[in-house]
Amino acid sequence: MSDAGMGITNALTSVLRGARGVTVLTGSGVSAESGVPTFRDAQTGLWARYEPQELATPEAFERDPRLVWEWYQWRRDLVRQAEPNPGHRALVEFERRVPTFLLATQNVDGLHRRAGSENVLELHGNIMRSKCSVEGVEAEPRTGDESVPPPCPGCGAFLRPDVVWFGEALPEDVFAAASEAARNCDVFLSVGTSSLVYPAASLPSEAARSGAMLVEVNPDDTPLTPHADYTLRGRAGEVLPVLVDALRTP
Ligand code: APR
Repeated sequence: MSDAGMGITNALTSVLRGARGVTVLTGSGVSAESGVPTFRDAQTGLWARYEPQELATPEAFERDPRLVWEWYQWRRDLVRQAEPNPGHRALVEFERRVPTFLLATQNVDGLHRRAGSENVLELHGNIMRSKCSVEGVEAEPRTGDESVPPPCPGCGAFLRPDVVWFGEALPEDVFAAASEAARNCDVFLSVGTSSLVYPAASLPSEAARSGAMLVEVNPDDTPLTPHADYTLRGRAGEVLPVLVDALRTP
């Protein structure tokens, strides 16, 4: 597809070239091309009959901690095998070209940092870390402990993945920093997210209220689409490299 076919116009590239501050919000669509399935996509194999929304909740963990821990172990294995894709890498390049850049991600896979992005806020935690389900503090299983879920080495309660589940609050300081970056940017880019899950989904409107231009990258429509100044249709791994290339060649 041509640049114009993706929605990348001269007007957009000139605004991006002049931008002092850019804030990016990413969702699981960015990692889809790395082989990490999006949250709302059908799951495969053993897990196909479970809805992620039914497993990623405090109630599910209370009901069946073993099932939830095993599901996360499966997801951790997927993440371990995954590599950052051209979409992740384009965002690294983008960061180098903008004076003030912040990447707020809803993804828990750590692929942005692995690609080389530096100013990253993980709004929903990181799947590779664990924490105590009672004390809430970061903790890892004792080496060789095969229990499922393993106990917290401090207090013996179950460990759980250090991610934000449906119905849980985001870490306050992390969300406050993302919010501030949304209010202070010239351009806000929303990439690969369904814009359905709050409070992350409120960041683009905060940015727009403060005068930022909104750009969305997604193959499909989302609730954000009607409010976006530019809609770039396509996969993140295809659109973002072309967008960043367009900044390079005046
Ligand atoms: N490139 C860009 N976007 C894509 C791609 C791609 N290759 N593939 C899919 N998408 C889009 C889909 O069209 C959809 O809008 O990515 C979005 C994925 O939506 P969700 O699965 O809802 O993921 P996300 O928005 O990240 O979910 C937010 O909710 O499920 C919880 O905590 C979980 O962090 C997650 C949050």
